[in-house]
Amino acid sequence: MKFFIDSANVQEIKKAVAMGMADGVTTNPTLVAKENGKPRDIYAAICECVDGPVSAEAVSLDSAGMIREARELAQIHRNIVVKIPICTEGLIAVRQLKEEGIRTNVTLVFNALQALASAKAGAAFVSPFVGRLDDVGEAGMELVEQIVTIYRNYELPTQVIVASVRSPMHVRDAALIGADIATIPYRVIEQLVRHPLTDSGVQTFLKDWEKVKSR
Ligand code: E4P
Repeated sequence: MKFFIDSANVQEIKKAVAMGMADGVTTNPTLVAKENGKPRDIYAAICECVDGPVSAEAVSLDSAGMIREARELAQIHRNIVVKIPICTEGLIAVRQLKEEGIRTNVTLVFNALQALASAKAGAAFVSPFVGRLDDVGEAGMELVEQIVTIYRNYELPTQVIVASVRSPMHVRDAALIGADIATIPYRVIEQLVRHPLTDSGVQTFLKDWEKVKSR
């Protein structure tokens, strides 16, 4: 299973890479808006930090605009993957971009048929947003199970990125289901490795080691 970091913050990305917890990066316009600088410069800086796919989102609403943006984004670095929202115009763009060798990540996916359509159009990645589904009282992880099953049924090569991750449990469940990737905010990456018994265990060992030191 791969972990991506869901962030446009270079410091966070560097830390996650140093921990071996970032095989790639996903961004979105909201995450980019939290950082200073031009989007293009932010994407270029991120690509310098990580040796893996870096998703940058197209914001046009028509396929011609999405394709134009995608071509420009793809010029930034070979690792750029273009995020395209699921919709009819988006699928047209995904299909054309695949022809051109530009990888896409179909985003804002909230049901299994959107994911199936994305794979048929030739998306390299699909991003079901589990946290946002949970927020409206639907089971986000059930969607991931459905997508993984459908892709396995037909041996579709599109990789599933579990997105909108809110807690370590989302990551654990994604791994149990067999999703290819989870894209995780830095806060949750830190939570993944913490346990109160680890903290108290370290404190006890340090205290006891003090006794050994003075022998
Ligand atoms: C994924 O690619 C998105 O950037 C992200 O996971 C959205 O998460 P949010 O629902 O916490 O905004």
